[in-house]
Amino acid sequence: MATQQSEQTTELKGDKIAIIGSGLIGRSWAMLFASGGYLVSLFDTDSRQVKDAMTDIQKQLTMLSERGLGRGTLSADVQFSRITTSTSLLEAVNDAVYIQECVPEKRELKRAVLLDVDAAMTSTAILASSTSAMMPSLLSDHLTNKDRFLVAHPTNPPFYVPVVELVPASWTADHVTTATSEIMAAIGQVPIVFYKEVDGFAVGRIQFAILSVAYDLIKNDVCDVEAIEVAMTEGLGMWYAFFGPFQVEHLNADGFMDVCNKYGEAVYRVQKTFAAPEKMGGPTAEKMCQQLELFCPLDKLQEKRQWRDERLAALSRLIRDLDREEATPSGGN
Ligand SMILES: NC(=O)c1ccc[n+]([C@@H]2O[C@H](COP(=O)([O-])OP(=O)(O)OC[C@H]3O[C@@H](n4cnc5c(N)ncnc54)[C@H](O)[C@@H]3O)[C@@H](O)[C@H]2O)c1
Repeated sequence: MATQQSEQTTELKGDKIAIIGSGLIGRSWAMLFASGGYLVSLFDTDSRQVKDAMTDIQKQLTMLSERGLGRGTLSADVQFSRITTSTSLLEAVNDAVYIQECVPEKRELKRAVLLDVDAAMTSTAILASSTSAMMPSLLSDHLTNKDRFLVAHPTNPPFYVPVVELVPASWTADHVTTATSEIMAAIGQVPIVFYKEVDGFAVGRIQFAILSVAYDLIKNDVCDVEAIEVAMTEGLGMWYAFFGPFQVEHLNADGFMDVCNKYGEAVYRVQKTFAAPEKMGGPTAEKMCQQLELFCPLDKLQEKRQWRDERLAALSRLIRDLDREEATPSGGN
């Protein structure tokens, strides 16, 4: 399995990556590509956003380097020097080998931006969208280069959570998906390649299924928010840092078939009691918010996000160290 970027020396690459939109996700992509040695051109229609993005990126790269959490082997200064800003979409895109669109999650805006990029990109470039929840066919049917388009959906915060969902439309060329997968691996991200598009992709569908079941438990006063938090952090989450749901089951008996035979009936009985999904909001959400504020008041969210990022970084370091130890016959000595 691919893991985060190893300690192999990161080579400076001549290839240019264009990032369209310099908000939360655009600046994360810029840092990731720069840490992989790529040249990055960052474009935004709001010049103040690009300026803020550069200040933020420099601060983050320095902080990561000081804490030993950076990606690859390039210094923070070298990584930062790989990123330039552009006030022209044409200039940002024209000789880029890979373009990552990161504009707000509005379908018509994305379609318009993608059309502009489509007209400016070279005939060999790859165009990817960061969209959280729009299927690639709905974003690209109007493009000339639609065979070179796919969704590359990161998980927030991308610097600490390496999975990237690569979702092709039916018209995306196979070699485009393969090349994108290789680019993701080169920057230390871990791609999942889909055979076909589906609404919500995989991470979203699984996350939303958990939300739906947990929400129903709160709505029906079966337990409180804290109980759900503990069920995940002290229970399922412990497994899920190392295994997906099928491997968890595979190991919990004599293989997955044994689980199906022994527990399949009970699992199905409980699954049949799941309520139909409902749109979150109203009194149940208000009840949850009151309880959630005991964990973290709304004015402390930024501090808690920083805490989260530090924990995620520590976890990914632990996993990397365990993988490295395991790969060394002497156990890392
Ligand atoms: N925030 C997340 O947790 C997250 C996670 C995964 C994917 N995404 C997806 O990534 C995309 C970007 O999200 P974000 O959170 O970075 O949004 P954001 O609002 O932080 O940033 C969007 C940026 O796009 C710029 N922009 C607007 N119109 C533009 C245009 N025509 N050309 C160039 N730039 C333009 C804005 O000025 C802004 O800087 C969305 O599709 C979102 O769904 C977000």
